[in-house]
Amino acid sequence: MFSPKAIIHLENLKYNYHLLKDQLNDVPIMAVVKANAYGHGVIEISRTLRDEGVKFFGVFTFSEALELRSAGIDEEILVFCRPSKEMIEIAYDKNITLNLSDPDDLKLFRGNRFSPKFHLKLDTGMTRLGISLDESYKIIKIIKNETLKCHGIYSHYATADEGDITYAEHQLDQFKTILDFIKEIDLSINYIHFSNSGSIINIPHSSYNLVRVGMLLYGAYPSDEVSKDIPIKPVMEFKGPVVSLRNIKAGTKVSYGGVWEAPKDTIIGVIQTGFADGFPREWYINGYISLKGKKYPIAGRVCMDQFMVDFGDAEVNIGDEVLIFGQNNKDKILVDDIAKDIKSTSYVILSNIGGRTERKYIIK
Ligand SMILES: Cc1ncc(COP(=O)(O)O)c(C=O)c1O
Repeated sequence: MFSPKAIIHLENLKYNYHLLKDQLNDVPIMAVVKANAYGHGVIEISRTLRDEGVKFFGVFTFSEALELRSAGIDEEILVFCRPSKEMIEIAYDKNITLNLSDPDDLKLFRGNRFSPKFHLKLDTGMTRLGISLDESYKIIKIIKNETLKCHGIYSHYATADEGDITYAEHQLDQFKTILDFIKEIDLSINYIHFSNSGSIINIPHSSYNLVRVGMLLYGAYPSDEVSKDIPIKPVMEFKGPVVSLRNIKAGTKVSYGGVWEAPKDTIIGVIQTGFADGFPREWYINGYISLKGKKYPIAGRVCMDQFMVDFGDAEVNIGDEVLIFGQNNKDKILVDDIAKDIKSTSYVILSNIGGRTERKYIIK
């Protein structure tokens, strides 16, 4: 049956993990596997990383944490979203670590022997979840006085993957102020973490004793502004099948709006993959696919389930699978290049891969 396919190259995932581990001089990595492991399939990705030695996983929702536990991931799991009352007992039972990221969350972790472990999240400049610096002194004193189960302290960069990291350095200074206070009052906390993919590249002096990594593990860069010196390999190879071929005359309009007209007589192929499967719709303007080592332009607007390709005089057959992004023996298109062209990010493109996409996990 025809469908889009995401071939997940687990050997590249392992390679990226070990490369980053070396880069970090063996500081442990928390694999960020939220949003279905950025579209790669959370269970297979987590099992593979667990088998390579990953001891920490980061997810956003509580149900993502439960999914990992049901799949037999017994390692540490940190849930990034705000905690709620309903999570407390289950988190304790299943040894899932929650997030204290608002002064109101404190009540969930106080005066209850059966409350779960948590990490204290500080807002140092992202202005999203996190305790403000002003409030953090009071909360840290309560944690110390009431010996609450705070196993980690962390924050999140807003601009770690940008060319100018002045603001990120400012965030780091704020974080250090609080770490100094923790030292001053002699509170011992197991894990201190701030860094993500962007800061592995740009602010390597903020690794502390745990680094939360998503994008680089999946073999794409967090932005176009960072150095591409770490030679990661793309984990996802996204492909779509050719389901129809026809000869058309120069001037024939293709797809919605008729905005694309054949510049000369050509062969148009219909690829069964559309924006409902995660194909980036805006990519039709300058976009291309690759087949048997050659690139061919996308012809006309991307539809919900299909898009068209101008194959010129290519040798192409029904059932051939075109490379949309990723890498195989003959073809290579970086998701980063698509993201740059359409003014999006690899995060958006990868986490949208789904719909009718069939994932296949391979180890070379
Ligand atoms: C709290 C938190 N930490 C770490 C990450 C991982 O970031 P990256 O994929 O850039 O490594 C994310 C992802 O957005 C996040 O939300």
